[in-house]
Amino acid sequence: MTRPDFDKPRVVGQRTPRIDGEFKLTGRAGYTGELHVDGMLYGYPVSATIANGVLESLDLDAARAMPGVVDIFHHGHFEALHRSPNSMAHGDMVNEVRLPFEDERIYYHGQYVALVVAETFEQARAAAQRVVAHYREERGAVVSLLQTEAEGTLQESAGSSRGDPEAAFGGAEVKVDSTYHIAAESHLQMEMHATLAEWRDAGKRLVVHESTQGVFFQRNAMARVFGLAQENLEVISHYVGSGFGNKLFMWPHSVATAVAARMIGRPVKVVLPRQQDMTSGGNRPASRQRIRLGADRSGKLTSVIHDSTTETSLVHQYVDTCGSATPSFYACDNVSTSQRVLEVNHGTPCPMRAPGEVSGIFALETAMDELAVALEMDPVELRLKNNAEQDPASGLPWSSKHLDECLTSAAKRFGWEQRNPAVGSMRDGDEIIGYGMASCTWSAGRQPCEARVELRADGSLFAACGTQDIGTGTYTIVAQAVAELTGAELSRIEVKLGETSLPAGPLSGGSMATATVLPAVAAAVRDALDAIKEVAVGSGGAFEGSDADALSAEAGGLTDGERRVSFEEILETSKLSSVNGQGSAAPGDERSEYAFRSFGAHFVEVRIDPEISRVRVARVVSSIDIGRAINPPTARNQVEGGIVMGVGMGLLEKLDYDPRDARLINANVADYIVPTHADAPEIDVELLDYPDFKHNEFGGRGVGEIGLTGVASAIANAIYHATGKRHRDLPITIEALL
Ligand code: MOS
Repeated sequence: MTRPDFDKPRVVGQRTPRIDGEFKLTGRAGYTGELHVDGMLYGYPVSATIANGVLESLDLDAARAMPGVVDIFHHGHFEALHRSPNSMAHGDMVNEVRLPFEDERIYYHGQYVALVVAETFEQARAAAQRVVAHYREERGAVVSLLQTEAEGTLQESAGSSRGDPEAAFGGAEVKVDSTYHIAAESHLQMEMHATLAEWRDAGKRLVVHESTQGVFFQRNAMARVFGLAQENLEVISHYVGSGFGNKLFMWPHSVATAVAARMIGRPVKVVLPRQQDMTSGGNRPASRQRIRLGADRSGKLTSVIHDSTTETSLVHQYVDTCGSATPSFYACDNVSTSQRVLEVNHGTPCPMRAPGEVSGIFALETAMDELAVALEMDPVELRLKNNAEQDPASGLPWSSKHLDECLTSAAKRFGWEQRNPAVGSMRDGDEIIGYGMASCTWSAGRQPCEARVELRADGSLFAACGTQDIGTGTYTIVAQAVAELTGAELSRIEVKLGETSLPAGPLSGGSMATATVLPAVAAAVRDALDAIKEVAVGSGGAFEGSDADALSAEAGGLTDGERRVSFEEILETSKLSSVNGQGSAAPGDERSEYAFRSFGAHFVEVRIDPEISRVRVARVVSSIDIGRAINPPTARNQVEGGIVMGVGMGLLEKLDYDPRDARLINANVADYIVPTHADAPEIDVELLDYPDFKHNEFGGRGVGEIGLTGVASAIANAIYHATGKRHRDLPITIEALL
């Protein structure tokens, strides 16, 4: 693959302020929930207040009599639709295959039983509160994976095995055999799920504004559900107030909104209230994991067995594969993973930032700490000893891996050598200090992508791709790529994302958007440069008679080495308003030659006041190798955010289900506790700078998820160092510390 002269890039890899920052700060960036179109109505869903049973009847008279109410939709008053085939490969995956109001069965607390549509939001909400649902509640709700011994159903395809792990474990000199439990978590993204649906052309064409991580997936799924040609559906998502995986795929509220809009004949907007966002808009499922590690006396791993069970719902199977990083993590000949899922009466779980792996790495990296204790070995040394020089799962060489440097560099900056390994030996006044660490990892994928670039006579450059910016800075890195390849100033570059009318772009998910989108944008830039070179050397052109191949881009124009002419002058000279470039890019043969994965390390200092059972994460020092960071501040910010989320996972966050009836008790931001600024540690993140040109020509591997992995384990390991108590269940609450 050809690459630009990125050994000394001018814009890529340089600190670049967000090009959309001003729009956001001045309130001009329109998020879905804020949009308004003429004639628009407001929908407010009514949620089931039981988790298991039957909806026997709805008493709607009082609600219908409320001011402004236009219609109320429910089972029996709704369009007949098709379920989406729910295929990742075909790009129509959904988060819940069950259609809204499909039957009268109640499978989980929060399931929609009606949608009230009214002239104003307040009227819709007030009327929704007047809907009276009569249920026949049934016993036997499965409350939580954490409250049952049930094993769940084995998912054959989600497991893996090499060597003879059982025999190797049986004969190991040193063993760890531990079971870990992690509570279900909420994504708690800032902007709630929101849909604005508008039918045009007498109900033949549907335009949907959705707060989504994947406009194309949303479009394809809606096309299947409504039986529409994809061309007759447009999905728009210009700004997204974050989504940690719960906005990757479509949810039932989108379908309900679009049906209401069609049946009424006016646009309808639904913004889920936080309660419904938490009960019915996705969660990270609880997990139970057993890890068995075998090692010889020198600390060399001889066996890794990782068996996981996670929750799924009764209306959609979601498999949160906890063991997916395990086969690639350490050099070991005997490794197996297995995965089970257990159906519970909850809203459907879905991917949440480093799905599966973040849970799996908590278990694996805590087990590694237990092994280090059993071996009386430094945990950093144990990890260096088992560092995999090639991918042990595929046998392929890594495209680029620097875990050893992450471990040693972060240890040095943290001051790990000052650690006294004796439990409880480090004190500062009333506080016990604990030092803990863990490695982290996330896969490095790529998807196919298309892009379009225009060079315009007004001097502006335009780049477009049907991906979306979920707050991570995608607008800015696209502009950086265009600036890098054309030499144009960033201020001249306009970027359009988040529409299915644009060239097909990827999900903002799996930490894949950067490596997916930028190569396609680069291809489109090159195509546009070829086009403007042809114009320049053509009859009457600015470089008439020159050889197009002798021209190159420089400072927003073309140069033959002696003379530079700006793009706008070239277009003006040839009386053209613009030239266009199209580009596409996809992963290639490199994936059969190399293994692609990012690694890093977190070091954590906790301070515990034993008198009041208080634990505080005081410091986190991390070194992460993600290839090249395209925009270092936004990349570092992804890791910092992941670390704060890891503090939540480690100490605070859990969805609490009532043991009597499986209702979600804390479906609000007051009772579901996340770290505040006061809980956030001092954070020091180093991004190693080893561009991975085997992954793509820009050298970046993606950064959205890796920062969260390993953090909760490093915290648990630090608490063990301080107190001698091994915490295998998350979150580590005050009660657990006592
Ligand atoms: Mo991520 S769980 O792919 O948003």
